[in-house]
Order: sequence, then structure tokens, then C-alpha cells
Amino acid sequence: MVQTPTYPLNAWYPAAWGHEVGRALTARTICDTDMVLYRRTDGAVAALEDACWHRLLPLSMGRLEGDQVVCGYHGLVFDAGGRCTHMPAQETINPSACVRAYPAVEKHRLIWVWPGDPAKADPARVPDFHWNDNDEWVGEGGTFYSLKCDYRLVADNLMDLTHETYVHAGSIGDEAITRVPFEVTHTDRTVTVTRWMEGIHPPPFWARMLGRPGTVDRWQIIRFEAPCVIAGDVGVAMAGTGARRGDRSRGVNGHFLAALAPETATTCHYFWNFVRNFRKDDAELTRALNLGHVNDGKGVYDQDYVVLEAQQRAIDRRARQPFYDLNIDAGALWARRLIERMIAAEHGGSPRLAAE
Ligand code: FES
Ligand SMILES: [Fe+2]
Repeated sequence: MVQTPTYPLNAWYPAAWGHEVGRALTARTICDTDMVLYRRTDGAVAALEDACWHRLLPLSMGRLEGDQVVCGYHGLVFDAGGRCTHMPAQETINPSACVRAYPAVEKHRLIWVWPGDPAKADPARVPDFHWNDNDEWVGEGGTFYSLKCDYRLVADNLMDLTHETYVHAGSIGDEAITRVPFEVTHTDRTVTVTRWMEGIHPPPFWARMLGRPGTVDRWQIIRFEAPCVIAGDVGVAMAGTGARRGDRSRGVNGHFLAALAPETATTCHYFWNFVRNFRKDDAELTRALNLGHVNDGKGVYDQDYVVLEAQQRAIDRRARQPFYDLNIDAGALWARRLIERMIAAEHGGSPRLAAE
């Protein structure tokens, strides 16, 4: 039985926060591809196949010497391009002795790697994640490494926020989300879900952020960039002060950010942040907002985590049972369609690759 791939290989995926990769060897699996990451002496990040050419010991178990990796078993040495430069007890080096080197770039505080065809890796195509390191926005962020679900379930979760009403009651959840219609638009690379809730009572979290009583206009404008990035422009402004027409001066605005990397078909790495453009110097608020999202099981994203892993377990036990779709799934369905198109393009354009 050949499974249809769940992810394209020709794409930039987040592999680590920039600050996590230094002069130590970091093992990471992206798209079922084992990589070892490290920072070269010039500061650039290298990503090599994490299996020695000789006997496949993970290179991440070896050590760094300058810009080269020394295998921890018999001492073969590989340069940052993956070429073997030293073999023990022999003068000549077998010219085929090499490991794969993966394109890697550092952008928006993250390390992005390209597990597919290196000739197609264009650094200009790293997804837009500028909110993560732009002066206008402040946030801390974190990662769920090896979250036990298909990365597309996380995308589903973030593209449809009606789940807030049920999963996040008491913080950002609000009945209004389930009542108000929304709009979905797309291009060949992006999907945008827009929802405006006007003249509503703000849910507790946003009431606290706004810091004044009264009704609000609340927005959620969620942008997916295929195959792996979601940025949600969210906020509230005092009702009737023109936020919908572009004047947000009487409101508060944040972005929830998600950069996803499939680890395997059923596990993923989820790099998240919540950034804001108000009270930017308030470090305590930055800390509190981070803990509001992930805090030892008590944060908003912890609540999602529980749902997502439970959902994957149920899917695993019912491999052939299809999903049924509602109107609220329109954004997520478009996101999945764009991913499928990328996968199909890698396999000669056929949308269904093989019998499941
Ligand atoms: S397995 Fe790496 S040198 Fe032998
Ligand atoms: Fe959620």
C-alpha cells in the first residue's frame, strides 16, 4: 500500500529558532528526513543528512571541528557541503563519499530548511513571517517539538477559529464567533479567512487588553501561506470607531503566528508566537501573554495540543474514515488544496499519486 504524501518536499520549513542552533550538533527530522544542524564559524547555518556515508551512524552523535563534522564512530570528516574530506587510515578519498547537504537560511528568527530538490530552493520564497522579528511587533514565542499530529491538523485548527468557543471558553472564546459569517479568499499560494464581529461584548482576554469598558468591533483575519505558515491578524477596537475601514487607533492588535514543519506524516514541529503592537515595552505583559499560550498544560495552545493529539489518535484507529466538512471548514479546505497542489506538482501533476 503506497500512501499519498502529506507534505511537499520542495518547500521551506522551519527547523529551529535561530538561537537554538550554535556550535553544537542538533538533530532534527523534517519531512521524514533526518538532518543535523549547526552553525559554521562564519555564522551561517549548515544542514546535513544525519547519517554517515560509512555505516549510517547519525552525524549528530559526532562532533564539530571548525566547519566540519567528524563522525563519532570511525572518524570520517564531512564539510558543510556534505563532502567527505578525511578517511581514517587511507590516503585516497572515495569521490562518492558524501552526505546530502540541505539548503538552510535564517530569517525572521527561525532556521528554514529545504528537504527537496536543492536546485529549486530560492531563499526569496521563505514564507512571510516578518511579524516575528519586526520592530513593530513584540512577542516571545515557543515550540511544540514532535507534536503527535499531522501538521495539517494544526493548520485546520488555526484556519477555523470557531473552535475558540468550545476549546478556549473563558479566555478568547465567544459565542459571536459561531454566529458571524466569514469570507474566504485565496491565491495560488495563500488563503485568507476574514471575520468581523461588530458591536459585541469582548471576550475576557480582549477586554483586559483593551482596558476600557464597552462594546467592541473584533476582527480575525487569518492568512495561510502554503504549505506551512499561518499568521492571524486579531484584535478589538471600541465599537464604531472605524476599525473595519482601517482605523485601528482605538483598539489593540496582535498576530498569532504559526510556522509548521511535518516531522513525519503524523507528527510535526509547531513554532508559535503571539506578537502585539501595543504596550511594547511591557516585558511583564510579554511574559504573561506567552504563559497564556503555553504554560504547563494551562495555556490556550495547551488546550489545542490536547485536542490535536487526541484527534490524530482517533484518525490512526480509523484510517479509512473520511472527514465530513462544514461551512466553517472552507478556509482549512483551501489550505489543504494548495498543499495538495504542491505535492501533485512534485509528482508530475497527478493529484492522486497512488492507490491508498
Ligand atoms: S559510521 Fe561514520 S565513520 Fe563509520
Ligand atoms: Fe485554539
